[in-house]
Amino acid sequence: MNIKFANSLRGRFIIFIGGLSVLTTLLLASFHFFQVRSALLGQLEKRGFSVAEQLVQAAAPDIEDENLSHIEDYLWDICADPEVRFVILQDARGQVLADCSHPSVDLALIRSHFVSGAWRPDAAHFFPIKTPNDALFSFSAPVYASGEATTRLGTIRVGITTQPTLASIDRAFWVGIGTWVILGSIGFLGVGFITRLALAPLDRMVGVARSISKGDMSQRVAIDALDEIGSLGVAFNEMSASLASSRDALDARNRELEQVARDRERSLAELKEAQDRLAHSEGTRHAEKLRSVGQMASGVAHDFNNVLAAITGRTQLLKLKLERESPGDQPLKDSLNVIERAALDGAETVRRIQEFSREQHEKAMTRADLNHIVREAVEITRPRWRSQAEQHGARVEVECKLPRVPQIACVPSEIREILTNLIFNSVDAMDSGGTIAISTESLDDGVQLILADTGSGMSDDVKEHIFEPFFTTKGLKGNGL
Ligand SMILES: Nc1ncnc2c1ncn2[C@@H]1O[C@H](COP(=O)(O)OP(=O)(O)OP(=O)(O)O)[C@@H](O)[C@H]1O
Ligand SMILES: [Mg+2]
Repeated sequence: MNIKFANSLRGRFIIFIGGLSVLTTLLLASFHFFQVRSALLGQLEKRGFSVAEQLVQAAAPDIEDENLSHIEDYLWDICADPEVRFVILQDARGQVLADCSHPSVDLALIRSHFVSGAWRPDAAHFFPIKTPNDALFSFSAPVYASGEATTRLGTIRVGITTQPTLASIDRAFWVGIGTWVILGSIGFLGVGFITRLALAPLDRMVGVARSISKGDMSQRVAIDALDEIGSLGVAFNEMSASLASSRDALDARNRELEQVARDRERSLAELKEAQDRLAHSEGTRHAEKLRSVGQMASGVAHDFNNVLAAITGRTQLLKLKLERESPGDQPLKDSLNVIERAALDGAETVRRIQEFSREQHEKAMTRADLNHIVREAVEITRPRWRSQAEQHGARVEVECKLPRVPQIACVPSEIREILTNLIFNSVDAMDSGGTIAISTESLDDGVQLILADTGSGMSDDVKEHIFEPFFTTKGLKGNGL
């Protein structure tokens, strides 16, 4: 993550403290400059007034004595000073009594300044005069008759150039600027250096934190000193050490869990294999058992068929004979009917045994409408589910939901027989009446038929055995076929 300079701690330190140091040095440099400037101007002022005062002292007796030549000598001595640009002595009316000037000075221009409002003959004062090639301060002082302060004899005016003073002020200005730039830069660099020094441990900590976040838990922060940042580093190192140990513990636990998962997977696979083996062997045993039962049943059925054919045949012959010889013997007729009925029922049972053991001939498949077969089966079984049930005081309803379905390939008589048996089973399971619901439905890969009843239902134990031949819960009434 890159932090913008202005948002970083270092950036804020440098901007704030660096800016503060630049401002402080600027204020100090300005203060120093103005101090120097006012000192220099003060010096200039002092000098000008002292020269004017000196001249006043010297000139007063000569003015009284009207010794003008002596005054002129005097003035020229003063003008020899390189900084004095002019000296003018005026009488009380403002007439020039004597003057002298530096060759660069235009005295007529100077005098015009005294006429234009700057004329204050009675007090010492100064004012600036600007000439084409110089800037001057003109100092004036009144000259009084000796021994009194009321009779003004005239005025002394001394012009002193400000150039050396202004040059010194300029110098002071540039020295101030230079000092400010140098001290400001040093301040900035110093702050940068100090913050770099102070924040280096934090930078190192960030680097270590990044390495740890990438998974390298061995990294630690180097501690230079036990100050606040050092303490932070120590706390950080403790945190990473505890993090590393937690991760190791977690890794170890993960490894254990993975091993447990692997073991469990292996055990499950072994268990499944054993189950498969068991199921396979049980299935094989069961199939074996069914095959032998089927073989035995088919043998018994064959013999039984012959016996029953003989009984049926003989019974029918006896019935014919009885019809011819003593048609009025009703009890014998009834007995023969019972024998014939029993033999026919037995033949029916045998037929079902043979069907179960696949002894019967395979019937040809045809395309048929399943809904039609359902309706037939319901009609065929009507006497059983309607009349017989009602005899026992129970009411059984059959509800059919038969939407249009595609034709299916089947042996219709077999499907009809299955349905018939299922309906009989439902009636048997509903002693006190109920509803048998039959529905068909078209699926993607065929047609589905569902038969449900509101009867007693089957226990898990019964469900487990219903497809076993001869399994019945109906005692002698049921065959389990
Ligand atoms: N709709 C049902 N409700 C409750 N139990 C049922 C139902 N259908 C079958 N059973 C149970 O399954 C057993 C086996 O039925 P299965 O039709 O094979 O033989 P069965 O009805 O006993 O004799 P039969 O050979 O005369 O049909 C029944 O004895 C009964 O216990
Ligand atoms: Mg049955």
